[in-house]
Amino acid sequence: MPNDIVAVDDGYAQIKVVGANPDGSNKPIMLSIRSSIRHGSIGSVSGSGAIATYETDDGATKMTVSDEVSGESTQFDGFHTSSMNRILIAHALVEAGYGGKDDINLWAGLPVANFFKNDESASRNDEFIAQKIANLKIPVRSLVPGAAPCPKYADVHIGCQALAAFIDYAVDDDFQDRQDVGLDRVAVVDIGGRTTDIAVVLGGQRCDPTASKTRNIGVLDVQKDLARRIQKKFEVSDSYSADFLDKAVRTGVAKLWGQDFQVSDLVEEAKAATSQKLTNFLSEILGSASNMDAVLFVGGGATLFEQSSKQFRNGKILDNPEFANARGLYKYAHLA
Ligand SMILES: Nc1ncnc2c1ncn2[C@@H]1O[C@H](COP(=O)(O)OP(=O)(O)OP(=O)(O)O)[C@@H](O)[C@H]1O
Ligand SMILES: [Mg+2]
Repeated sequence: MPNDIVAVDDGYAQIKVVGANPDGSNKPIMLSIRSSIRHGSIGSVSGSGAIATYETDDGATKMTVSDEVSGESTQFDGFHTSSMNRILIAHALVEAGYGGKDDINLWAGLPVANFFKNDESASRNDEFIAQKIANLKIPVRSLVPGAAPCPKYADVHIGCQALAAFIDYAVDDDFQDRQDVGLDRVAVVDIGGRTTDIAVVLGGQRCDPTASKTRNIGVLDVQKDLARRIQKKFEVSDSYSADFLDKAVRTGVAKLWGQDFQVSDLVEEAKAATSQKLTNFLSEILGSASNMDAVLFVGGGATLFEQSSKQFRNGKILDNPEFANARGLYKYAHLA
């Protein structure tokens, strides 16, 4: 079988996978796992992989990926070239059904701020890209008894997250260029877990570095704020897992002491401060965006902050926006 193309959008909050279907069908698989990971092993559960321990760096690093425990923060600057990042990607690929494969053609991403140099040239940051590739090539071994081995990569490529989202918009699912939309000047707003990235894509080809900005505004801020509000309202000091907070923000329901509690009012309050920061950031960088063909909203926050896209007459939330970067990388990989 030829190399399987697998694209991962490895974010601070979630690893999204879009890749060749292991069952051989044409429909790519799409899966996301939370970037919830901590050092050490907490007892391995095989099967669905709810708790899975891995080792890397020749056994010097052991980490466990699990939704059920509160993970360590992924929000540090070296994340993209860390053992943590490498293990999360390996785990996501095993969960997606690529365990045991040895010919994966892997595409991963970097935010605009890392993909391009932060100087006047704003050229591709080849040095950092090479570091990320080298990091991903270090083997990872699953310590889950009976679990499939982590896949091996025949090749590793790195794309730019915001450009990938643009490609998701500009190229359809049959890998054909879309003719029905203007593509000369398009802004991409990626509202992620840790950061919101704004990138302006010119002529369908390149990012305008002066118009591309990143700010630490994201859905994880809302989740953290919600945790504080729950602690205050229910007079507790317990910590909550990524899974708990994610569900509570998405559904407005929190399970406490084994019972469901409505917390939608707390979610709205937690959203308000972040939402205001987002509105200000978007206005500051894009104005009213009348000079853009479209403003594309992607990332998990695009759904949560749906009203942000309404701030612009030409605002559009891409389908299933959490997966836009990974889907775009997958399309790009097919065209490359
Ligand atoms: N409909 C939704 N409602 C609430 N939260 C959501 C929704 N969809 C996704 N999320 C959450 O939004 C967050 C951001 O998701 P996303 O996958 O864009 O983050 P990321 O790419 O990992 O972060 P970053 O881009 O900062 O690295 C996640 O915590 C995700 O669980
Ligand atoms: Mg992201």
